[in-house]
Amino acid sequence: AAWLLLAFVLGYLLGSIPFGLILTRLAGTQDLRSIGSGNIGATNVLRTGRKGLAAATLLLDALKGTVAVIVAGYLAGAEAAMLAGFGAFLGHLFPVWLKFKGGKGVAVYIGILIGLLWPAAVLFCAIWLITAVISRYSSLSALVASSITPIFLWWYGHPALAALFGLLTVLLFYMHRANISRLMAGTEGKIGQK
Ligand code: G3P
Repeated sequence: AAWLLLAFVLGYLLGSIPFGLILTRLAGTQDLRSIGSGNIGATNVLRTGRKGLAAATLLLDALKGTVAVIVAGYLAGAEAAMLAGFGAFLGHLFPVWLKFKGGKGVAVYIGILIGLLWPAAVLFCAIWLITAVISRYSSLSALVASSITPIFLWWYGHPALAALFGLLTVLLFYMHRANISRLMAGTEGKIGQK
């Protein structure tokens, strides 16, 4: 049990590193909090006009989930891997360093999927891309992809992962509540739009 708690706590600490904020501050762009959605994720970094920084944010935020899962899994087994992933997700959403105001979880969700069952991450990204090409909404694409992922996991015989990602999807929806209101009102910003 001590190992499981440790996996969760270390996952949380890793997940709570706000790469979007760190990279944009290092690059001296506008403050993420004062542009676009005000979010610290890759979608909002893109609204600074810096594509490379946005890609780096996506990659590093995803890696937090992947590294947490793989390291915990290697050291302490499958349950620890899942708890470390859950911890990383919570750390990204509610980082203690930012008064618990973090990101919305899309990149970390993908990173955890890569670490636990990479084909499911490929499926997530494919659904995300198809929805994004059609709609140009980053938020909607994440909502659609994360709705299908737990069903896919359950269908393909991974009930524990389906439960974990079902929970992550609920949290992801909660973090996107302002986006959902804007989508319904027709005022959500499209990808790359300032
Ligand atoms: O990664 C979060 C994305 O789904 C929405 O981001 O900045 O448009 O709220 P944003």
